[in-house]
Amino acid sequence: MKNLYKLNNINLNYQLNGNDIKVLKNINFEIKKNERVAIIGESGSGKTSLLMLMSGLEEPTTGSILFNNEDFSKISEKKKTEIRKKKIGLVFQQFYLIPNYTALENVMFPMQINNINDEKNKANLILSDIGLGHRKNNLPSELSGGEQQRVAIARAISFNPEIILADEPTGNLDKKNTELVSNLLLDYSYKKKFSLILVTHNMKLTKKCDRVIELLDGHIKV
Ligand SMILES: Nc1ncnc2c1ncn2[C@@H]1O[C@H](COP(=O)(O)OP(=O)(O)OP(=O)(O)O)[C@@H](O)[C@H]1O
Ligand SMILES: [Mg+2]
Repeated sequence: MKNLYKLNNINLNYQLNGNDIKVLKNINFEIKKNERVAIIGESGSGKTSLLMLMSGLEEPTTGSILFNNEDFSKISEKKKTEIRKKKIGLVFQQFYLIPNYTALENVMFPMQINNINDEKNKANLILSDIGLGHRKNNLPSELSGGEQQRVAIARAISFNPEIILADEPTGNLDKKNTELVSNLLLDYSYKKKFSLILVTHNMKLTKKCDRVIELLDGHIKV
């Protein structure tokens, strides 16, 4: 299978009051097309930072990130934005839904900017799959944390990206919805053939992935 991502010797440092904080240390791995990888590790081990690098929203201090053989450090911001728009579905710990758009409109939005047709029906379908058909006309502020999280997941799936980067996508959900949403994400990844990076503390979920990467204090634990 072809590589979707290749991370080479990634280091990420933050400067804080003149001190270097080493957040990620010598990270190397590849993600294949249509591969499902769980990322686990304690709070503060660098999981979110790693996803920020993989989305191209942050740059590593040293090392390179190749996405479909293109080096993020060698392409323009415009091109990176274009790649994110078309190919990378993001589910952040904070959901970043558009506040004045309803759930349905939030899910339709990435399809509209990608010129995908029949977006309303497709958004309706995903929202009912995810158990939110009855909340589709609500604004994010009218939804619970778990419901907003599910809208963010529906939005990430909606436009057929090549990969979904999901940061604790079931972190706010109860047991029933954790099961529902994680199975849905995994099922869709097979059906639509996208790769999936799942940051999670849920061991049941890691078992359903093809592979697990464990971060320990910014290193990959081997
Ligand atoms: N902008 C920043 N400036 C300085 N330090 C930062 C910054 N962002 C993150 N860090 C530090 O980097 C480390 C890793 O943070 P990160 O958010 O990646 O952890 P995480 O594994 O996602 O944790 P959690 O499970 O709590 O979400 C932490 O020690 C954090 O304090
Ligand atoms: Mg995090």
